[in-house]
Amino acid sequence: MTTGKTRRFLHRRMRTRKRGSRMSSRENGPETKKRIALTVNGKKVERDIHNRMTLAEFLREELDLTGTKVGCNHGECGSCTVIMDGDPVLSCTVLGVEASGREVLTIEGLSSEGRLHPIQEAFVEHDALQCGYCTPGMIMSVKALLDRNPNPTDEDVRKSTDGNFCRCGSYPNVIKATIEAAKKANHS
Ligand code: FES
Ligand code: FES
Repeated sequence: MTTGKTRRFLHRRMRTRKRGSRMSSRENGPETKKRIALTVNGKKVERDIHNRMTLAEFLREELDLTGTKVGCNHGECGSCTVIMDGDPVLSCTVLGVEASGREVLTIEGLSSEGRLHPIQEAFVEHDALQCGYCTPGMIMSVKALLDRNPNPTDEDVRKSTDGNFCRCGSYPNVIKATIEAAKKANHS
């Protein structure tokens, strides 16, 4: 199971790799473009992007998927969390070129035909958000948890969202909403 702590560890490694790639691109000359092809929210997309562009920048600037928020841009806050090949990742620490060939799910991919996803409905019902800035990342972490564990405990929810910082302090309601969404999914 990928917990928030594991995720932060993995992302620190990715940050190191990112810094490394920045250094080598500086050393090796100007930024270059590369063609990437991936699936985002079930649709295949192809673009020529700068090799230093992050996945978060790619989603927001190239695809206009601005539901993915960028808070710290340094792998610390979790607001940019998306799901890549089934695992939650911090999209500010993943290069767009690293996402080529992968399947990415963002907050925009959860609702269908104008209906909120049950996790989103539970967040609304349980007041699990205030300003909402952390919410897309928080919901993607919860989605990844429920995909692999349909009966999470409060502790499971805490561990899976411990890399998602909420300045408004909505944590208790996030737990309630997640448990409720899990119960509803199990009875539907
Ligand atoms: S914006 Fe990516 S972890 Fe903060
Ligand atoms: S709801 Fe405001 S930062 Fe979480």
